[in-house]
Amino acid sequence: MGKLNNKVALITGGNSGIGLATAELFAGEGAKVAITGRDENTLKDAANQIGNETLAIKADVLNLASLDDAFREVESKIGKIDVLIVNAGIFKGAPLTDFSEALFDEIVDINFKGTFFTVQKALPYLNDGASIVITGSAAAEVGVENASVYSASKAAVRALARNFSADLLSRKIRVNVLSPGHVETPIHGRLGLSPEQVKGLREELASGVPIKRVGTAEEMAKGYLFLASDESSFMLGTEIVVDGGWSQL
Ligand SMILES: NC(=O)c1ccc[n+]([C@@H]2O[C@H](COP(=O)([O-])OP(=O)(O)OC[C@H]3O[C@@H](n4cnc5c(N)ncnc54)[C@H](OP(=O)(O)O)[C@@H]3O)[C@@H](O)[C@H]2O)c1
Repeated sequence: MGKLNNKVALITGGNSGIGLATAELFAGEGAKVAITGRDENTLKDAANQIGNETLAIKADVLNLASLDDAFREVESKIGKIDVLIVNAGIFKGAPLTDFSEALFDEIVDINFKGTFFTVQKALPYLNDGASIVITGSAAAEVGVENASVYSASKAAVRALARNFSADLLSRKIRVNVLSPGHVETPIHGRLGLSPEQVKGLREELASGVPIKRVGTAEEMAKGYLFLASDESSFMLGTEIVVDGGWSQL
C-alpha cells in the first residue's frame, strides 16, 4: 500500500526537474497525479513518463484565470485535492548595480506572487486536512552574489507557509516548505549558458556544498513525500532544508 493511496496530488511545475521527480514518486505511492506547467511539449512527455493516467494541464502562474481553470479541471476529472505542491519557479540573477525593474518583477511575480495566488485559488478545490508544500530555497538563508531578488522571493514564500498555516487551521490544512540546495535540474540550462558552461557552473556549485556534490531531484522528492503524507502530521508552518549542508555548516 502506497503512502498516498487514492490521494489527489497536484504539482505545479510538474513537467520538469524537481516537480517531475516528485510527481513520479507520488504516482508510485498510489496518488492520482495532476501536473501543471507552461510548455505543452514537456507537459505531454512528463505525463507519459509519470504514467498512471496523469493529468497534464497548461497553466501559467502569471495568469490567475488559468489557475482557476486548472483547479476546476482537476476537481472535475480526478477529484478534490489532498496534496498541493507549489513548486513552479524560476532562478535568474544579475549584478546589483544592473538589476532591472523588469527582472525584479519577473522573479517576484512568478516565485512570490505566483505562490500566493496558487494557494489562494486552490482553496475551494482542496479537501479539509490537505497538505500544501511550497518550494523554497536554501538560498534564502545564505548571501549569494547576484541572487538577492531570487533569495528574497524564496524567503517570502517561507513566510507564507507560516501565515497560511495560521489562516487554514480551521480546515486542518497544513502548509510547509521544502527548501532545496543546489540540485541538478533543467533550471541551470535555462540561464542561456552553453552545455560546457552549465557543467562548469554545477562543478563550481558542488565545490561549495559540504558533501561536495549537488543534489538530485529524486532526493528532493523524498522530502516532498514526507511533508505530503500523514508521516508529517504534526508539522505545520515549518521547513525541511535538503541541501547537503550548504546553508547550515
Ligand atoms: N534546482 C535547484 O538548484 C533549485 C534550488 C532551490 C530551489 N529550487 C526551486 O525548485 C523549483 C523547481 O525548480 P527546478 O530546479 O525543478 O527547475 P526547472 O526544471 O527549471 O523547473 C521549473 C518548473 O517551474 C515551471 N514554471 C516556471 N515558471 C512558470 C510559470 N510562470 N507558470 C507555470 N509554471 C512555471 C516550469 O514549467 P515550464 O518548463 O513549462 O516553463 C518548470 O516545470 C523552483 O521553484 C526553484 O526555484 C531549485
